[in-house]
Amino acid sequence: MDPMDTPSNDRADERAVRQEWRHALDRSADTRAAGIPSDPTEVAVTPAVEAPPSATTPPPASAPTPAPAVAAPAAEAVAKSLTEHPTHVADPTDLVLAIRGLRVAFSGNEILHGVNIDAPRGGVLALVGPSGCGKTTLLRSINRLTELAPTASIDGEIQLDGQNVYDRGTDLNLLRRRIGMVFQQPNPFPMTIFDNVAFAMREQAKSRPSRSSLLPAVEDVLQRAGLWDEVKDNLDRNALSLSGGQQQRLCIARTLAANPEVILMDEPCSALDPRSTARIEELILQLAGSLSVVIVTHNLAQAKRIGDYAAYLLNGDVIEQGLARKVFEDPEQQSTRDFISGMFG
Ligand SMILES: Nc1ncnc2c1ncn2[C@@H]1O[C@H](COP(=O)(O)OP(=O)(O)O)[C@@H](O)[C@H]1O
Ligand SMILES: [Mg+2]
Repeated sequence: MDPMDTPSNDRADERAVRQEWRHALDRSADTRAAGIPSDPTEVAVTPAVEAPPSATTPPPASAPTPAPAVAAPAAEAVAKSLTEHPTHVADPTDLVLAIRGLRVAFSGNEILHGVNIDAPRGGVLALVGPSGCGKTTLLRSINRLTELAPTASIDGEIQLDGQNVYDRGTDLNLLRRRIGMVFQQPNPFPMTIFDNVAFAMREQAKSRPSRSSLLPAVEDVLQRAGLWDEVKDNLDRNALSLSGGQQQRLCIARTLAANPEVILMDEPCSALDPRSTARIEELILQLAGSLSVVIVTHNLAQAKRIGDYAAYLLNGDVIEQGLARKVFEDPEQQSTRDFISGMFG
């Protein structure tokens, strides 16, 4: 036996990895707290005109809308070139997530002003809106990461399968397994490909499973994440030596290994090249149906390519939500129209 491969070393490794995971979460929170923009390529949209009131999701009187865009001749061409896919949703009234009256403030400064969002089970819900409108905060509130910031205060309900995740007594470890998260920057653990995927399986096992007993499940998850063929010959390679796109698929695999019902993705392709982006989009389309995805993206073409449903946020309010095709092709709100043409323009 390798002298390094002792049970106590394994336990130390696992402790370190758990710590690493916490650090990854903290780093993400720190970035926000420091006011570092989540994505420098995101287009800032200048507020200008008032949004007309909506029957379903009324914007508050104070909610400005983005400036009417400079004429965007490319918009229609881009919209037409988008591929359409069949919906993943079996029953639109069966909600995996129901966000009700969600208010989030940092140091008393309210960022989300009573947000209501429906996420039908099995679907891909795309959250779009200008930089700083609260998309990441909303996403991080779903699996209760927002509260890691000591200045955060949170009010309202987020029901997962009808149960409020903010109920007292919610098991946060279990919640974060049921609602996995993939971040903007791929963040594999600094360990082998195998150990990244096996991480959640080992955490959930009662006694330490052998590598050979985990291998079939590791393969299955890597297959589902579309990475198996590229890594099967060397599962003991350090995950950090993979390309960015492969690392992001590995992070999706690591999330899938916990068998989640929902995966939250915060601009998962913004650090990737177009080919890797296409690969991740394909993967999301394959995964949807058997699980639900909530994705934040600043790429409207992507939101339309993969979204079954969409919600448009502006300054902490949901301006419009519903079927992605409707929201992007025939929005009810002038504000939504302006945002769409602005982004394409
Ligand atoms: N931990 C935090 N502490 C203080 N302010 C925060 C924190 N997280 C987010 N914010 C603020 O909330 C607003 C919305 O941020 P965010 O949710 O990241 O928007 P988006 O993802 O739409 O760009 C920003 O003004 C941001 O500075
Ligand atoms: Mg963000």
